[in-house]
Amino acid sequence: MTEDDLSAVIEIEQKSFSSPWSRRTFHEGLSAKYPHAHFLVCKHQDNSIAYINFVLVGEDCHITNLAVALDFRRLGVAKYMLAKSLDQIKYLGGRKVFLEVRMSNIVAQRLYRQFGFRINSIRKKYYSDNDEDAYVLWLEDIRKIRLEYVNEKLQG
Ligand SMILES: CC(C)(COP(=O)(O)OP(=O)(O)OC[C@H]1O[C@@H](n2cnc3c(N)ncnc32)[C@H](O)[C@@H]1OP(=O)(O)O)[C@@H](O)C(=O)NCCC(=O)NCCS
Repeated sequence: MTEDDLSAVIEIEQKSFSSPWSRRTFHEGLSAKYPHAHFLVCKHQDNSIAYINFVLVGEDCHITNLAVALDFRRLGVAKYMLAKSLDQIKYLGGRKVFLEVRMSNIVAQRLYRQFGFRINSIRKKYYSDNDEDAYVLWLEDIRKIRLEYVNEKLQG
């Protein structure tokens, strides 16, 4: 992701979340201030249609954001981005991957479950817009999952 992607990314962000990240948050994440932050976009005909953000420190990785533009959902884009990101995280030395997801976000939970993420704990009232609890999902060791299989399936 670069500054040029931000208009499209922010539009997706605002349509996807009840408490969207601000332009400033994306802007700072891209800056040298946060060397552990990775911001990736997926493009279709030069337009940004999805993005994923993660923070990797040593072996621990926190997936902080993932969204797909409304018109491109249910096409396997999130699966593709997650598979590519886990590949990259593995390559960069990551092992444990975790993220928070709203308890009501069954769609995202189904996606993560397919990659082996499991509930580790619950963060009470994690989301301040409606006091919703979060599941903390963990993938204990990405070296043990067969990402090649996921990638093959997506290309097929
Ligand atoms: C969650 C999200 C990223 C999924 O993106 P997507 O590109 O549509 O997902 P994919 O097409 O790759 O589907 C992956 C899996 O997610 C699940 N899924 C996706 N859309 C679904 C839907 N409408 N109903 C049920 N399950 C769904 C399925 O398990 C699917 O696998 P399958 O096709 O083998 O059944 C997208 O819906 C989104 O941007 N939502 C708003 C933002 C958000 O909730 N982000 C996650 C924050 S933790």
